[in-house]
Amino acid sequence: MTNETLKQPVIESMPRIGDKAPSFKAVTTQGEIVFPEQYQGSWVILFSHPADFTPVCTSEFMTFATLENQFAEVNCKLVGLSVDGLYSHIAWLRTIKEKIEYKGMKNVEVKFPLIEDITMEVAKKYGMMQPGESSTKAVRAVFVIDPRGIIRAIIYYPLSLGRNFDELYRVVVALQTADEFKVATPADWRPGDDVIVPPAGSCGVAKERMEGKDDIKCYDWFFCTKKIDKTKVMGAIKKAGK
Ligand code: BEZ
Repeated sequence: MTNETLKQPVIESMPRIGDKAPSFKAVTTQGEIVFPEQYQGSWVILFSHPADFTPVCTSEFMTFATLENQFAEVNCKLVGLSVDGLYSHIAWLRTIKEKIEYKGMKNVEVKFPLIEDITMEVAKKYGMMQPGESSTKAVRAVFVIDPRGIIRAIIYYPLSLGRNFDELYRVVVALQTADEFKVATPADWRPGDDVIVPPAGSCGVAKERMEGKDDIKCYDWFFCTKKIDKTKVMGAIKKAGK
């Protein structure tokens, strides 16, 4: 969509990190849902895909459906969306289960809800329609929403680029780790790697940290890490989700 006078893209309002996830009611392949209210108490990944019966989307759905239990173990539910209708969704998911064998995955049943959004109402609310990329198809958007219904991470991919679902899992676990242990996670962090402790809030603490007290390792006074082993991280996350 272009403002013809200025030749500038028209910026629609889009939800941002830290915002309450916009509410909607929708028809899905698993019945009607009320979002995000129905998901209170769970993490949820709301994601859009451009179209049913397309190859990149098919590879994504097979992968995500195969990983659904792994996400469930960290209290994270999945909800998909495209601007196709319900019968197209049903036919596509049946085809995936009955006919497609891909990278060792076969008989894959997509059990998470797939929203029909022919009116694009939800896609527009979430900034999933990005006309510079396509005015008729949603881009590959990912919203990670916490148990209070707050948007905690947003990732967008163009139509041609299939998502990395290990990365989406890493994002959910890293956010949960940050919440549970009041830490941050460094580049390429995975459970079991060192985490970053909050910066020293006083000269005294900065000095202590540099003297190597506690179990904290400092690269400089403002950049300190500590170990949390993988069992402890995953145990705390799974306990918090119960
Ligand atoms: C795909 O999923 O393969 C796809 C969808 C829309 C545009 C390009 C590719």
